[in-house]
Amino acid sequence: MRLWIPFAVSAGSLLVIASFVGAGWDAPPVETTQIGYRGTGMYLEQDVEKLEALKASNVAPVAPWEADPEGDRAGDLYENVQVLGDLSDDQFNQFMAAITEWIAPEQGCEYCHDLENLAADTNYRKVVARRMIQMNQAINVDWGDHVGTTGVTCYTCHRGQHIPVNYWYDDQEPKPASNMSRAGQNVAGKFSGNTSLPQNALMDYLMGNETIRVHGLTPLPTGSTTAGIKETERTWSLMMYMSESLGVNCVTCHNSRAFNDWDQSPPQRVTAWHGIQLTRALNTDYMTGLAPVFPEERKGPEGDVFKVGCATCHNGVQKPLYGASMLQDYVNALDTKGPTDVPDYSTYVPSETEVMGTGTPAPATPSSSSALPSTTSVAAAED
Ligand code: HEC
Ligand code: HEC
Ligand code: HEC
Ligand code: HEC
Repeated sequence: MRLWIPFAVSAGSLLVIASFVGAGWDAPPVETTQIGYRGTGMYLEQDVEKLEALKASNVAPVAPWEADPEGDRAGDLYENVQVLGDLSDDQFNQFMAAITEWIAPEQGCEYCHDLENLAADTNYRKVVARRMIQMNQAINVDWGDHVGTTGVTCYTCHRGQHIPVNYWYDDQEPKPASNMSRAGQNVAGKFSGNTSLPQNALMDYLMGNETIRVHGLTPLPTGSTTAGIKETERTWSLMMYMSESLGVNCVTCHNSRAFNDWDQSPPQRVTAWHGIQLTRALNTDYMTGLAPVFPEERKGPEGDVFKVGCATCHNGVQKPLYGASMLQDYVNALDTKGPTDVPDYSTYVPSETEVMGTGTPAPATPSSSSALPSTTSVAAAED
């Protein structure tokens, strides 16, 4: 029995409803691209005006200068460099200049540093930035199945902003009036494309590792899956979020006559599968651990840190920055893994903790450059 037929029909009608519920109904002009075999309904429809705006806002910035890889290492020159120690002095300074442009173009170095003592970890943003560097290195080195050789930089997410434009958090508002279990439904979910699908699906799938697949292969729920309508709607919620994040339709990753069948799905679905694993890992291994370091205003209403989703990197396009890579200018800083030690963040006290970390490992044999007074390093960095 071909069970996917009723499924696809109900899938189609729900989708139509979902697209009307979405905030702001856009009138054409719409651009239609055929992305699959003729006759299979594989068309991508995109709003022409939105496309223009996206093209303008997804441009990779050029590096501040081309860094000289030769010369003394930052780990020897400076006092408290825990992750970027293998960079040459010039690479280190170039990277500091770049992250300033990517994260705090108006505030400058001061956004993360105590200008009297650049080695101090008293500013919480520097502690966060160090962990972000480790996260960024892990994405590029360990997650090639998703990010390919294009990779990401801080700019992919930050775009000149202190915190990325697109993030998510545990969304429980408005709280249900009684004990009626609505599974966070019947409100326009912020993180489910403004649909009234379950609003907390991202908690289950991009933090937790709940099963996303719901498709049964037997007429009764006795076989491979026992998922009901509730689970299916939750999957749908995630799928709406993913589609919105990339500015695509379901058919970019599925042949809509058989949503479950991998053999009929475009290759993008496999990349997306790796993207789901990647996003989970970023949230569980990096973002949540930073909770003790972030101040209250950097947390959601439930007290959790802001988290990474597909939209954090993708920002509405199918490949972040339309597939432009910025890595060639930051190979040592972002495409190579430095030390991966994680300090105990629960001990962090802003403006008091001088050095946050497992301690600066002393060089095995003291070299002449490591004896440089810190004022020299500061001057070098400010050049
Ligand atoms: C987004 C946050 C951020 C900004 C902005 C920033 N830095 Fe840094 N800086 C860091 C982090 C994180 C480290 C430590 C890196 C490590 O541990 O590997 C660091 C370390 C340093 C050090 C080494 C100090 C020492 O003795 O240990 C110098 C020098 C430095 N930065 C200079 C600058 C300058 C100059 C600017 C402005 C052009 C700047 N930084 C902007 C985050 C930042
Ligand atoms: C995958 C996306 C992503 C990448 C890549 C990324 N960040 Fe972030 N960053 C975030 C998110 C999300 C937050 C907000 C977390 C919160 O506020 O709870 C954040 C917050 C920060 C903050 C705190 C700012 C503040 O005002 O509180 C700093 C500093 C920072 N990132 C630096 C960096 C640096 C430096 C890099 C590159 C080495 C980088 N980030 C790469 C997602 C990213
Ligand atoms: C960016 C790629 C992508 C887009 C866009 C996308 N999906 Fe998915 N979808 C996936 C992946 C990957 C899985 C499998 C997840 C897993 O196996 O953990 C999946 C699974 C599903 C499933 C469960 C299939 C099963 O075997 O039970 C359904 C149903 C589904 N998607 C429907 C949709 C709908 C409806 C849309 C449009 C609103 C959509 N998807 C958009 C990538 C995508
Ligand atoms: C850390 C940043 C980051 C996150 C988070 C992320 N992606 Fe990606 N994604 C990328 C990059 C970079 C590429 C481009 C890879 C390339 O050029 O080969 C990409 C490519 C893709 C592609 C392939 C596009 C194509 O046409 O080949 C799909 C599909 C995709 N991502 C889906 C997702 C989904 C779904 C999520 C969330 C579950 C997600 N991504 C989360 C960075 C990210």
